[in-house]
Amino acid sequence: MTEVVDTIFEHFRSGGAGAYLGEPVTLREHMLQTAYAAEQDGAPADLVAAALLHDFGHLIHAGPEDAAEHGVDTEHEDVGYAFLATHFPASVIDPVRLHVAAKRYLCAVDPAYVDVLSPASRLSLELQGGPMDAGEVAEFEAEPHFEAACRLRRYDDIAKDPEVVTPPLEHYLPYLEAVVRA
Ligand SMILES: [Fe+2]
Repeated sequence: MTEVVDTIFEHFRSGGAGAYLGEPVTLREHMLQTAYAAEQDGAPADLVAAALLHDFGHLIHAGPEDAAEHGVDTEHEDVGYAFLATHFPASVIDPVRLHVAAKRYLCAVDPAYVDVLSPASRLSLELQGGPMDAGEVAEFEAEPHFEAACRLRRYDDIAKDPEVVTPPLEHYLPYLEAVVRA
């Protein structure tokens, strides 16, 4: 196993058992469910890896679990991006970096999208700046991986189901090893 992947797995084992921001699943379950949704959708390895890692910032950045309710955006996507950026290609880290912006983007371009958001996700939307304006939409669409970020976002949004049973973390090892930089 690549050293960085080993480190990532250690973070999953030690840091992922807490509740996920007011959702009925743990952070680890949420990230596994996001990867599972990507895999079920036939996403390529880099997008499955991005799905698994998208909230990695929460694992390494121990903000209060209910930060959104206290009016604090812990900016977890930037924390995750900074760690992952040295080890993974843009096709993995850009969707991670953009997954919160993708929510603001989808709220702006798809009126039905807001209905799929959980109450906690709607609350954090306001902290994250609300739906994008036209200028922000154009800027977002200029990002090379914005479509992958939107796909990741939709996997993220459905990955909060306490009834779903996913494969174990180890199942995703080949996806990470396929895209990690040696
Ligand atoms: Fe998430």
